[in-house]
Amino acid sequence: MRALLDQLKAIVGPAGWTSDPIALQPNLTEWRGVVTGKTPLMVAPASTDEVSRVVRACADAHVAIVPQGGNTGMCAGAVPDDSGTQVLLSLGRLNRIREVDAANYSMVVEAGCVLANVQEAARAVNRYFPLSLGAEGSCQIGGNLATNAGGVNVIRYGTARALALGLEVVLADGSVLDGLRSLRKDTAGYDLKQVFIGSEGTLGIITAAVLRLFPEPGETSTAFIAIGDSGDAVRLLSHLRGAHANTIEAFELISARVMRLVAEHLPNARLPFEADYPWYVLLEIATGGNAQAMEDALADAAEASLILDAVIAKNAAEAGELWDVRHSMSEAQRRAGKSLKHDISVPVARMQEFLARGDAVLAELMPDAGLIAYGHVGDGNLHYNVTLPGHLAPAEREAAGAAVTSALYDLAAGLGGSFSAEHGVGVLKKPYLEKYRGGVEFRLMKCLKQALDPENILNPGKVI
Ligand code: FAD
Ligand code: MLT
Ligand code: ZN
Repeated sequence: MRALLDQLKAIVGPAGWTSDPIALQPNLTEWRGVVTGKTPLMVAPASTDEVSRVVRACADAHVAIVPQGGNTGMCAGAVPDDSGTQVLLSLGRLNRIREVDAANYSMVVEAGCVLANVQEAARAVNRYFPLSLGAEGSCQIGGNLATNAGGVNVIRYGTARALALGLEVVLADGSVLDGLRSLRKDTAGYDLKQVFIGSEGTLGIITAAVLRLFPEPGETSTAFIAIGDSGDAVRLLSHLRGAHANTIEAFELISARVMRLVAEHLPNARLPFEADYPWYVLLEIATGGNAQAMEDALADAAEASLILDAVIAKNAAEAGELWDVRHSMSEAQRRAGKSLKHDISVPVARMQEFLARGDAVLAELMPDAGLIAYGHVGDGNLHYNVTLPGHLAPAEREAAGAAVTSALYDLAAGLGGSFSAEHGVGVLKKPYLEKYRGGVEFRLMKCLKQALDPENILNPGKVI
């Protein structure tokens, strides 16, 4: 091991590694503090060639590698296990925007570019990169692609998978797959990039990507809308889709309890309403130059008895404040203490059924649990997070939590849904993959892993 570590240090140079336990601490703990690991060394290569040489050296020594982006992932996929033998490979120094091609509506970026910087580089040439999520100031585009991240604009633009035109990937033997083509049409054989997107560092290390850009949406209007019932959210969405089919940029559902958590734990957040309402929708539409578009849409929805109240942002700063409230929800939950995260998806029309039957599951299995429900309802994706009652002893807590989680995942699966909508599998959801994707699907996943990483050195113990 010592010889390998010396070899890795020589590849990345003095600025590219650390083994200092204090400096490493944030890289060894998943962001909620749920999982902590150990590593003998963290390397941060500054080029694709360095990544390739690091991987080849580790492959020759049969030593495992854990790729890490911004370490904001929800399933502990980016931290090493506690054996102290896995090399941590940070992509943070691979952070150049290689090219922005405004005419082709594309850009080539390295994996370690922070998502907010990618958005900004597109904006600088009047183009739009739509991926947006609460962690955008620290998550990296490589991590977004590796987890097939979703976020708040999927309803109009799709997940990270839909936003990638090409990828550069270092494979488990150190060879480099150069797929940095900026083509919208390419039917030459299998679409290999899609195998790596969403594979959470278990099949290859993404070093760069060609991203799809869009025209800027122009004027948008944002509104926080109070509704009486979660079912009204789905009805409101379908009502709005009538007149605004292609202009809904975001449609997020938020429960009253989540708003109270934000108020309690993030006192600087500016909440839109003084009164408490049962549910809320955060809606953004592109107005197409019609300044009245949002008011008209909401007046129409009020007439159909779908909304109780609404606050429409008067300018970009006010819209930013509304979005700050939405983007602070994960942090508010983290501060509130341990919770079980259930990032489920169901067909949009079955969302309310999931919520109603989910309530029944909690009432039966854990009546004094706290439900923190919110999510990207336009995509059928709900964060049905549950805080466990404080009086439970640790063992009881674990067993009760596992029972609730299983029942909720069974419910989602029974409604044609998924136990993992946008956060991936990592370590935390690994036990469920075989259960819900068993048979042929799981067997094919194992074949892929075996074919691409026969020595199991890429992020072992994660996903599969
Ligand atoms: P990491 O956490 O570092 O890594 C995630 C996984 O990808 C790990 O398995 C890691 O090994 C692998 N990986 C990382 N980089 C590479 C690479 N270059 N090549 C190969 N494998 C790699 N997610 C959503 O989808 N939607 C949301 O709305 C959302 N909101 C969030 C809000 C907050 C406040 C926070 C903290 C997180 C949120 N997330 C959300 C989760 C998280 O931000 C995303 O999963 C994000 O895509 C992870 O990016 P990262 O760079 O932090 O990856
Ligand atoms: C979000 O949408 O804010 C996150 O993906 C949800 C979460 O933290 O559970
Ligand atoms: Zn989310």
